[in-house]
Amino acid sequence: MPDVRTPARPHAPGNDTAGKDGGPSASALLDFVRRTAADPALIASLPLDPEGRTWIRLDGPGGSEAWLIGWPPGTGTGWHDHGGSHGAFATATGELTEQSLTAQLPTEGWKTLELADGVDRERTLRDGRGRAFGPHHVHQVLNTSPDTHAVSVHAYYPPLPLMRRYSRTGQVLRLEEVERPEEWS
Ligand SMILES: [Fe+2]
Repeated sequence: MPDVRTPARPHAPGNDTAGKDGGPSASALLDFVRRTAADPALIASLPLDPEGRTWIRLDGPGGSEAWLIGWPPGTGTGWHDHGGSHGAFATATGELTEQSLTAQLPTEGWKTLELADGVDRERTLRDGRGRAFGPHHVHQVLNTSPDTHAVSVHAYYPPLPLMRRYSRTGQVLRLEEVERPEEWS
């Protein structure tokens, strides 16, 4: 287990390191993933496999769930949400593309949903760049490089209770699967 711990920081009025429930906010998680992505020894400790993604679980700050993930060229997550957790991720090496939706989707009670035009966003993250996201964020993350591995750091709070996986055909999103943490150990 890599030794990645966040020093305790005072929670002064006006800073946003703590979320509403006292856990780390999305911006505190972004700070953590950026600092962790800037630790070359830790990043180099992740075994890389040209055939598939690899990962190491990290100690996230304030009870959050954190992962170091290796992405061979051409791999991606598929569309998913984070079960109501907020989070952040940052690319340490290589380059990742994030495709996301600006629309806030109802989380329950539907199997297929037609997305409005104009809800798609795409961004590219490299060289320690990261992003934070809120509890309703739906996205997919891809390494579109033909030849270069990417490594990234991810953190979520609360620890992921589940992830909903979606398929997408044009503007139609379809709920395919609800994954529980037992399946990720
Ligand atoms: Fe995600």
